[in-house]
This record gives sequence, structure tokens and C-alpha cells, in this order.
Amino acid sequence: MILMDLDEHEMKATVSSLQPNGASIWPHAGNFAGIAQVMAESGISGLDGLLADLGVSSMQIDDPSRGFSYRRDGPLDMRMDMSRGETAKDLLGKLTEAELAEALRELADESMAGPLSRAVLARHRLTPFETTTQLATFCETALGRPGENWSLRQGKRWVTHPAARLFQTLRILVNREVANLKHLLRLLPSILNPGGKACIISFHSGEDRLIKQSFRDGLRQGLYDSISEEPMTPTEYEKKGNPRSRSAKLRWARKTIA
Ligand SMILES: C[S@@+](CC[C@H](N)C(=O)[O-])C[C@H]1O[C@@H](n2cnc3c(N)ncnc32)[C@H](O)[C@@H]1O
Repeated sequence: MILMDLDEHEMKATVSSLQPNGASIWPHAGNFAGIAQVMAESGISGLDGLLADLGVSSMQIDDPSRGFSYRRDGPLDMRMDMSRGETAKDLLGKLTEAELAEALRELADESMAGPLSRAVLARHRLTPFETTTQLATFCETALGRPGENWSLRQGKRWVTHPAARLFQTLRILVNREVANLKHLLRLLPSILNPGGKACIISFHSGEDRLIKQSFRDGLRQGLYDSISEEPMTPTEYEKKGNPRSRSAKLRWARKTIA
């Protein structure tokens, strides 16, 4: 089994959790968009199965030094691969207001995309945000009521922290998550063996739309002979034990047997 993760620490933890099952694992720290090259180097011509578990892990979110969480103080980093690339702070220094606003709308459905991007970038030009808490506190003042307890569930709905959508957007941009997923979806028919199955778990409605569309296109073109009609979602029991699973959707596609 080939196991890939952009984050070397995460990859090692996943290897340790799988090893007791007796799986023989070939770990590769790297981008799954480069799977074809890894297969070529490993002498593998096709895959019988592929599971892509997208997004960020709980371990990454809960480690303040990674800068993914608006609830924990840390550097404004958010890179899954800490050995290269631009941090969230670097990105804030490069994005225009229009680019950030568009990303906030597209990647997080942020209704205050324009005013938020204007306020955040104006402040960042004046005094750059260095830490997650500085950015989160600024968003509270810009969009919300300071001091409000955002972690509470009010009535039947969760109260979204004013920084949540901005943090999600920055993380997706920093790690080029949309481009990586599109690349993987394009590659899939050429790396699966006939009858091989790809399963993709996403946590974001935009990603789920891309996966659904790509699988439907593949079915129409005869590249896949079967795809999931509806996404699989976690049970109430799983959501209770692991609340972060609540937005997960799994879709699958099977490559046509020629
Ligand atoms: C939801 S977590 C799943 C982690 C692991 N499967 C587990 O259950 O413990 C998603 C993982 O995907 C990794 N990741 C995200 N985009 C990636 C990419 N383009 N290439 C490789 N790994 C990626 C992240 O670093 C993160 O560790």
C-alpha cells in the first residue's frame, strides 16, 4: 500500500496506526497530485484502490505551532508541508482585496467577503498579522461582537466564529487544495486498474461538487462503469464521537473493465 501525505509527521502517525493491522506500507511524504510519479518509481502500473482523505487532520488543527486554528495561538503558518511554500502570513502580504474577497466567497460562502478582505488587508499592510490570535481577534472586532462565546451552540445551530471562514479560505489557498484535487481527479482514470475503485472523502461543499461532477463526467464518457449515486455521510453515532466528521462526504467511482 502506498501512503502519501504532504505532512511528514502526519504520515508517520498514520503509518503507526495502520501497521498493527499487518499492512505493508510504502510511505511517501509528498503531494498526492504526484502519485503517478511515485507509482512509476515504485514499479506500479495501476492501482486496485485509492482512498483520498482530503483537508486537514485533527492533529494538525490541535497543534498550535501549525497555525491552523483560530482558537489556539500560534504563528500564522497553515502549511501542511512545512518544508516549502508560502505561509498564510506571506499570502496575506501578496493577495489583493479582490482576490481575497473572491476566494472568501468561493471557498467559504462568506457573506461579508468584501468588507472583511478590505479590513484585514488594510490592517495587514499597516501592521502585519503574525499570529492566529491576532487575526482571529481582529475578525471578532471587524465582524462580530467581541467577547461573545463562539464555541456555543445557540438553539439548534452552531455559532460560527467570525474568523472561521477566513481561516478555512487561507488554509485552502496556502495548500493549493483545489488545484491538487482537480489534478487528482484528472489523473484517476489513468492510474486505476480496470475495476479499480477510487474513494474520496471531502469536508467542503465546493470540493464535493468537483468530485461529483468529475465522477459523473467519467461515467458519461465510459471511463467509469459505476459511481456512488449519493455521498456516504457519517452516522449520528460517529458524529457524536467525532464532531469534526460532521461535514464529511465520501464518493466513489469504479474504473470501467475493458
Ligand atoms: C483529514 S486528514 C486525514 C489524515 C489520516 N488519513 C488519518 O485519518 O489520520 C487529511 C490529511 O491529508 C493531507 N493532505 C492534504 N492535502 C494533501 C495533498 N495534496 N497531498 C498529500 N496529502 C495531503 C493532510 O496533511 C492531512 O494529514
